[in-house]
Amino acid sequence: MIPGFWIAVSGLALVLFLMLHLGGVTLALVDAAAFESYAAALHQQVWLPWLEAALAGTALIHPFLSLRRTVANRQARGPAAGPLRSRRQGPWEPLAALAARAIPWSGALMLLFLILHIAQLRWDRPPAGMELTAVLAALRAPWSLALYVAAGASLGLHLLHGGESAVRRLGLLAPATATSLRQAGRGLALLLGGGFALLPVALVLAARAAADVGG
Ligand code: HEM
Repeated sequence: MIPGFWIAVSGLALVLFLMLHLGGVTLALVDAAAFESYAAALHQQVWLPWLEAALAGTALIHPFLSLRRTVANRQARGPAAGPLRSRRQGPWEPLAALAARAIPWSGALMLLFLILHIAQLRWDRPPAGMELTAVLAALRAPWSLALYVAAGASLGLHLLHGGESAVRRLGLLAPATATSLRQAGRGLALLLGGGFALLPVALVLAARAAADVGG
């Protein structure tokens, strides 16, 4: 099977994980006790290690195949061809064009973020009832908070191009459905990117407000 197909499938699988992940971590903001119960229940599931192994494999295959295809495309087009330019018009198009050009960089930043993120919160898994404390400790240093915000913004940018590219690779972008699929993809990019960029700041502000009230 051609690599483009697997890039699309692995990318969409990661998006599915991220939708569930954003839902799970949003609980930390709206109901801390429910977040702790959810994390504790999740960690007791026998299928969790299998799911994590599949997730790690998918998260490695996706950038590996994407990088290989970028190099192959560059070699096929040659140095004189220059960057591809979209002919579409509209308010989103400059941002979509930036997202397309920046896709290796937004992906690289997320990989860098993931190394830190997994070391902070997954490698040394916090004991039951301490998940939110561990998240807040991970967000304490300003540079770490900034990296979380940048990773969220990179995710939004990455999906702005990647979502449309994936449905095209899977042959789903027919003329009749193109506009609605494109808008749905952009909405999802905004939701996940905005959600992951804003949530770390909201968690820090909520913890500060709670500490002020507590005295
Ligand atoms: C608001 C920002 C985020 C917060 C508060 C957060 C929180 C967490 C927590 C608490 C865990 C540990 C889960 C567990 O032990 O079961 C975790 C794991 C993980 N997070 Fe995040 N996360 C955030 C953003 C992201 C982003 C943007 C990505 C991807 C680009 C991501 C990818 C992952 C992955 C791959 C794991 C490992 C999952 C596992 O092995 O169980 N996270 N995150």
